[in-house]
Amino acid sequence: MPSLATLVADRITAATDRTLPGAGPFDPRVRRSERADLQADGLLGLARSTGRAPREAAAAVAGTLAGDDLVAACVAAGPGFLNITLADAALWQRVAALLADPRSGAGRPQRGVRTVVDYSSPGVAKEMHVGHLRSTIIGDALVRVLEFLGGTVLRQNHIGDWGTQFGMLIQHLMERRPGADADPDDPGPAGGATVGDATAGGSTPGGGAAAVRRLTALYQEARLRFDTDPAFVERSRNRVVALQAGDPATLAAWRSMVAESTRYFSEVYDLLGVRLTAGDIRGESAYNDQLAGVVAELERAGVARVSEGALCVFFADVRGPDGAPVPLIVRKRDGGYGYPATDLAALRHRVRTLAADRLLYLTDVRQALHFRMVFDTARRAGWLPDPVSAEHLTFGAVLGPDGRPLKTRAGDAVRLAELLDAAVDRARAVVAAKNPDLPPAELAARARQVGIGAVKYADLSTGRGRDYVFDLDRMLALTGNTGVYLQYAHARIRSLLRRAGEPVHPDRIAPDIPLTGPERRLVLHLDGFGDLLAEVARTAEPHRLCGWLYALAQAYTDFYEHCPVLRAPAGVRENRLALSALTGEVLRTGLDLLGIAAPAEL
Ligand code: ARG
Repeated sequence: MPSLATLVADRITAATDRTLPGAGPFDPRVRRSERADLQADGLLGLARSTGRAPREAAAAVAGTLAGDDLVAACVAAGPGFLNITLADAALWQRVAALLADPRSGAGRPQRGVRTVVDYSSPGVAKEMHVGHLRSTIIGDALVRVLEFLGGTVLRQNHIGDWGTQFGMLIQHLMERRPGADADPDDPGPAGGATVGDATAGGSTPGGGAAAVRRLTALYQEARLRFDTDPAFVERSRNRVVALQAGDPATLAAWRSMVAESTRYFSEVYDLLGVRLTAGDIRGESAYNDQLAGVVAELERAGVARVSEGALCVFFADVRGPDGAPVPLIVRKRDGGYGYPATDLAALRHRVRTLAADRLLYLTDVRQALHFRMVFDTARRAGWLPDPVSAEHLTFGAVLGPDGRPLKTRAGDAVRLAELLDAAVDRARAVVAAKNPDLPPAELAARARQVGIGAVKYADLSTGRGRDYVFDLDRMLALTGNTGVYLQYAHARIRSLLRRAGEPVHPDRIAPDIPLTGPERRLVLHLDGFGDLLAEVARTAEPHRLCGWLYALAQAYTDFYEHCPVLRAPAGVRENRLALSALTGEVLRTGLDLLGIAAPAEL
């Protein structure tokens, strides 16, 4: 369902074809404006390129536009703009159409597009930290928007479940377990060491968090031994070889570690309300048996060559501070493959097997060079044909109150779970203050919706590239551009509709009632929902949706302050109820696309 702005743009194009024949295709550039309902400035450029005075061209087009059921008035203004006033009936009819449309005018512009979204992607045997927050939240919002617009999305949780550090971890795990055989040449009975036996407090009653605490401890102990005990280093190296060779006991220990970790990831995803499941996990290990082939293909194609014993890909425009070329190392000197080879295999798999049209990768900006080199290598190898786009979507850091990247006192990355718990605690106070009589269970549920929503919204509303300060007071402010503000705006509308006590139906809208200024502004804003979402999908920038929803809530507040709804005369009342219902519906949809709950009462 095209927006009014799109319909007007089509009219302008047709009128221009008639009045300026031979002008060729052009974008009329229709926008919302302070001076009129819509303004178009595309004729400026077009007139210049056809050698006409823009003012005259605009006047000629304007003269043929006005006076139909869509455009009530059109005047040329300024150096050659068109100022357009829409017919009141067209605005009310648009409200009725949007209200009747379950997609609120969004359509399915992504239909037929297959997008792989690589997001979250934490490391096994490690705690998820604040650095994984943005990837997970932004990735999930993009997935939701693309799917809502009819696209096919293949989520890929590229977890770090492979590599030399697992030799160290497994070796330590096996040596800590009494009776486990530590000799990689003689692995002993299969099904040996598991993470559960490795540390005290073996059972994990439903607790991925406890499990990951054990894994983290395991990691730290292993690391310490690795850094201080050369004999352990040697045994760890052999353990990597055993892992790669598929030794059963080694594999069993590795599997137990991965299973513990993924259980913990699912718990975090559940708490966050993120749509990642176990089925979306395709970690680094999944590409292990393709690495040799991938790298051989690069060598055969002449894309990679041996330099100082390592197989490298070089780039004309990638140089270090000393001017020396910085290569992408696809096979190390010791014959091992690392992160780059794995990403090349994953990319090839995503294009060839998953048949992706678009690849999105969400990591922080520190991996920018890595992905630039991976994409360039893949292009040279022919794995990334032109119609497929590969985009590395980076984001800034989450900062502490001191304006430096958020760290614990000890200088470690802050655990994600801790941050989220703090947000839910603070939200409980905010909700209870507004609503002192809430039963405890309900209070707990809402605190979670508000607290998690606040964290997500603060993250999503910050432009992807920018850093932001993790400040719970600001995130949970009831006014301003926050998740809570939008949740309240939505809940207030729902409460109004409950009080109205009558069903809202598009057929009850009377199109012949003139619109007041605030009504007009609200309708025109709502008209743009579909176009806005298409823009979010194109740019992969969810903060645009946040800004748009915030402006919607403000437009509604302005409307509500100036236009009584329940006390309005019959006719006007139905129209205003419909406008309120539509706003509530779009707020709910918008919050859902951001992965934020929209409770009916708050
Ligand atoms: N595991 C990596 C990390 O924690 C992120 C992986 C991102 N995805 C990828 N295909 N490289 O930094």
